[in-house]
Amino acid sequence: MRTCLAIVLAAGEGTRMLSPRPKVLHAIGGQSLLTHVLVALRAAGQTRTAVVVGPDHAAVAAEARQVLPDTEFFVQTERRGTAHAVLAAKPALIRGADDILVIFGDTPLIRPQTLGKLRAALADGAAVAVLGFRPEDPTGYGRLVTTGGDLAAIREETDASASERAITLCNGGLMALAGKQALAILSSIGNDNRKQEFYLSDAVAVARGMGYKATAIEVTEDEVRGINSKAQLAQAEAVLQQRMRQAALAAGVTMTAPETVFFSADTKLGKDVVVEPYVVFGRDVVVEAGATIRSFSHLAGAHVGKDAIVGPFARLRPGTKLGEGVHIGNFVEVKEARIEAGAKANHLSYIGDARIGAGANIGAGAITCNYDGTGKHRTEIGKHAFIGSNSALVAPVAIGEGAYVGSGSVITRNVPANALALGRGRQVIKAGWAKRARSRKPKSKKKAKSSD
Ligand code: UD1
Ligand code: MG
Repeated sequence: MRTCLAIVLAAGEGTRMLSPRPKVLHAIGGQSLLTHVLVALRAAGQTRTAVVVGPDHAAVAAEARQVLPDTEFFVQTERRGTAHAVLAAKPALIRGADDILVIFGDTPLIRPQTLGKLRAALADGAAVAVLGFRPEDPTGYGRLVTTGGDLAAIREETDASASERAITLCNGGLMALAGKQALAILSSIGNDNRKQEFYLSDAVAVARGMGYKATAIEVTEDEVRGINSKAQLAQAEAVLQQRMRQAALAAGVTMTAPETVFFSADTKLGKDVVVEPYVVFGRDVVVEAGATIRSFSHLAGAHVGKDAIVGPFARLRPGTKLGEGVHIGNFVEVKEARIEAGAKANHLSYIGDARIGAGANIGAGAITCNYDGTGKHRTEIGKHAFIGSNSALVAPVAIGEGAYVGSGSVITRNVPANALALGRGRQVIKAGWAKRARSRKPKSKKKAKSSD
């Protein structure tokens, strides 16, 4: 099997993002641009990865290590061009590999299959393989110059002649280089151009000059979208969402209005899950087979069991675990809570830091009071317990199995199994009071002033 060294360029300044955060740490689908790229590399069978970062980019390195723990890092101290950036990783290049893949950290939509095609071109004998695409607006991109059908050079726009600018096939930016020739090619790239930068795109002309073969593989614009602004970030998000919706439908998820459903890159939906319109999945959500997520629900860090029903208008926050057949209804918020099989909280509840036993029923408006202003406390509710509407369970507190809590109770002490707990003012009846009140002669009333 051929070995592959991936060099990820992530030294971009990101000033056009108008954010103190490094560009490659901005997210689409709840996952950083850099992570998208690294995940694609892993799927394409990379053996080693080097990330070229700018100075003070510890956060970028930390993010990369989370995905690929043995990533090596190289700092490019001065921005002198894409080829200069690749050469910052020279020690990794010297150690070598059969295939060298250079990939930009701000190109999150690249597919592993496409990286595979670039590698296949090297296996076929090319020294350099690039991605070509035909953008709606080619402004700013390098143009692929061909002679007799062969890729001859890439001309950056600032250096291109009028006829070269008319070329519609543009450079996607990423590149594959044969390991044996990579260092020789990269070291021969000069900076004799308008910007006086060392252009990676010049690798094509240099390789041809050395008598090697260069090829271009055409892909869609979406795959090579580079992100330089918040508007481009939003465009890439739209493309990614579209891909995730298609994948969910293809995997058997039912959605009547997929264009209104938003996923995270790590969302996992089981077979025959139904997602109604306008649902948002934040990070780290698993929904098991047969569950229904009804409209206008927001889920993050939640595990939804088989055949459960969530929403409409439900909010599941991190640490939520719903067992099989659980019902979470409208205006119910759940956080850091395990709700066991068949339990129900159908209306207007807050359940935080709790365990609710199987088959328990949480009445409308019942809440756990988990926070006392300084610390969080837990509520334990036994199986088949019944919590009456509008009750407040002041944690730490435990309600025993099969116990009843009367509506409107404020529960501050543990309730034994099968007991009834009432913690509310006793009702008083005053017979005929209302009628007497109405028949009482009204005191002299001032005539209302007419206002005009
Ligand atoms: C590059 C290509 C261009 C192609 C386009 C596709 C070159 C010279 N040009 O242009 O042919 O059409 O991508 O999007 O390669 N970087 C560094 N250090 C540097 C310079 C760049 O790390 O000194 C990184 C950037 O952070 C970025 C990537 O390399 O991730 C590409 O740089 P960028 O300035 O965006 O190149 P383009 O002008 O877009
Ligand atoms: Mg760019």
